[in-house]
Amino acid sequence: MDERTKMFELDGKVALVTGAGQNVGAGIARVLAAQGATVVVNDFHADRAERTAKEIVAAGGAARPLSFDVSDFDAVTAAVADIAAHEGRVDILVNNAGPDGPMTMAPFSEMSADSWGKPFAVNVYGMLNCCKAVIGGMIDRGHGRIVTITSGAGQQGLDIGVSTYAAAKAGQIGFMRHLAAENGPHGITCNTVSLGLVLSDAEASAVQRLVDSIPVRRMGKPEDPGYLIAYLVSDEASWITGQTVAVNGGGLMI
Ligand SMILES: NC(=O)c1ccc[n+]([C@@H]2O[C@H](COP(=O)([O-])OP(=O)(O)OC[C@H]3O[C@@H](n4cnc5c(N)ncnc54)[C@H](O)[C@@H]3O)[C@@H](O)[C@H]2O)c1
Repeated sequence: MDERTKMFELDGKVALVTGAGQNVGAGIARVLAAQGATVVVNDFHADRAERTAKEIVAAGGAARPLSFDVSDFDAVTAAVADIAAHEGRVDILVNNAGPDGPMTMAPFSEMSADSWGKPFAVNVYGMLNCCKAVIGGMIDRGHGRIVTITSGAGQQGLDIGVSTYAAAKAGQIGFMRHLAAENGPHGITCNTVSLGLVLSDAEASAVQRLVDSIPVRRMGKPEDPGYLIAYLVSDEASWITGQTVAVNGGGLMI
């Protein structure tokens, strides 16, 4: 039998994963490192970034923690310059950084105008800042992969008090389509991964009703989005761009 062709390898690629200090971002960082990428582990909280990077290195992968706030354009620009100096370039950007702490949930009618900015600062401005910082280099090299993590809440109406978060997550989808259209000719793909609930086993057991509403009857694990992203950022996925792909156990089918 012929030797099998290996696919979706990320050897030699440099990936920046934002908000990778815990949960979804940490799962994505672990999977990309397992596929051979050198992962720059970002988180606003330095201790979290260090923990994820240490775990990856202990498992035999290559990772470096780099703490900065994605909503601060100057900090993002400085971080990408630091990566250029140490790792050489950013081949893969995963915009994952999410809420810093529990989300405030309230009906829109009860919200005050000063609360609207927070989800946009990290989800929309954070994404724009990181994309802006890496896109020029990707264009120069004729290659790049950008993935942004959105939510099913940005694709459907829900009566659970997350309307402004949903507006920011929907904004991510719109922007990524345009980024894909503008940069396809430069060898850069831009996709959005839409998540259902990713919870720890302990959290999931407390919400059995939610688990029962998901066709595959389990909550997402931090690695589930990573497995799709490892494909989307591979050389083999060069014909997939401007798409929103759901990782949600079938919880939302559109
Ligand atoms: N967990 C879910 O069920 C779920 C569902 C749908 C979408 N998502 C999306 O997945 C992503 C990750 O979610 P999570 O549940 O792992 O969140 P989380 O809060 O557990 O982790 C997010 C990490 O991002 C970091 N972060 C926050 N603001 C930052 C900033 N300005 N700069 C750098 N780092 C920052 C935090 O310190 C934290 O470590 C988010 O974009 C979120 O909207 C999550």
